[in-house]
Amino acid sequence: MSRLAGKVAVITGGARGQGAAEARAFAREGARVLIADVDSDLGTTTAAEIGGDVQFVHLDVSDTDSWKRIVATIENDYGRMDVLVNNAARYWTRPILEERDDAVDAMIAVNLKGAFLGIRAVAPLMIESGGGSIINVSSTAGLGGHCGHAAYGMTKWGLRGLTRVAAAELSPSKIRVNCLVPGAITGPMLGVNIPESKQRDPDLWNGLPLRRPGEPEEIAEGAVFLASDESSYITGTDLVLDGGATGTG
Ligand SMILES: NC(=O)c1ccc[n+]([C@@H]2O[C@H](COP(=O)([O-])OP(=O)(O)OC[C@H]3O[C@@H](n4cnc5c(N)ncnc54)[C@H](O)[C@@H]3O)[C@@H](O)[C@H]2O)c1
Repeated sequence: MSRLAGKVAVITGGARGQGAAEARAFAREGARVLIADVDSDLGTTTAAEIGGDVQFVHLDVSDTDSWKRIVATIENDYGRMDVLVNNAARYWTRPILEERDDAVDAMIAVNLKGAFLGIRAVAPLMIESGGGSIINVSSTAGLGGHCGHAAYGMTKWGLRGLTRVAAAELSPSKIRVNCLVPGAITGPMLGVNIPESKQRDPDLWNGLPLRRPGEPEEIAEGAVFLASDESSYITGTDLVLDGGATGTG
C-alpha cells in the first residue's frame, strides 16, 4: 500500500507505544519516517525492527535547540518535510491538592509546549515543501474532567486549542492541523493505572461500548488517515478513537 508514498514524516515519542505503531504503519504506507525520541536505545531498536526507510533521531521535544537540529537534519537528508505527529508525552495522575509546581511545569513543557515548539520549527520547511499535515495527539482527558488529571488534562485540552489556532494560521500555506484523541490504549502509559498483564481483562471494560481498550495499531490507522491526502478537506478538528467512551451514555 502507498497512501503516504513520497512523504517525509516525523513521529515524536516514536520509540514505543502508539508512536512506534504509527512509525510502522507510516512505513507500510510508503513514508520515509524519522522516529524522534529521548530514548535513544529503544528508538534505535524500534527503527531497526521496522526496517525500510525508518531512522531514529534524538529529540527532546521540550528543547528549542533540539528541534532546530532535527529540522536541519531533515532538510539535509530529505530536502522536504510533509508530516509531523506530536505524539510524545509524559503521564501521571495526582490530585490537585498534592500536585507540585515543578511537576506541572515538566508536564506542560513536554506535552503542550513541545507540540508548539514542533509546529513552529517544522512549519517553514513544510511550507517550502508545498504544505503538509500536523497531527497533535490529545486524549479523552482533553475532552472531559477526569479526577487526578489536572496537569495532564490541562495539556491535552491545550493541544486541542493549539490545533485550532495552528490550523487557522497555517491553512493559507496548505498545512492542515488536526488532533487524534485516543481513549484508553494498551501499553506502558495505561500501565500507570492498570498493570499491562491485566489491561485486556474484559471485566474492566463493561462500561465502555466496545468492551475493550484500544490497541496502538488502531490509533496508528487514524494517524495514517490524517497524514494522507484522504483527509485533504479536514483541518482544525478532532478524530476521537475511544471505543465509544465519550460519544455514548
Ligand atoms: N496510552 C493511552 O492510554 C493514551 C490515551 C490517550 C492519549 N494518549 C496519548 O497518546 C500518545 C502516545 O501514548 P503512548 O501510550 O504511546 O505513550 P508511551 O508512554 O508508551 O510513549 C511515550 C513516548 O514519548 C517519549 N517521550 C517522553 N518525553 C519525551 C521528550 N521530552 N521528547 C521526546 N520524546 C519523549 C517516551 O520516551 C516514549 O517513547 C501520548 O501523547 C499520550 O498522551 C495515550
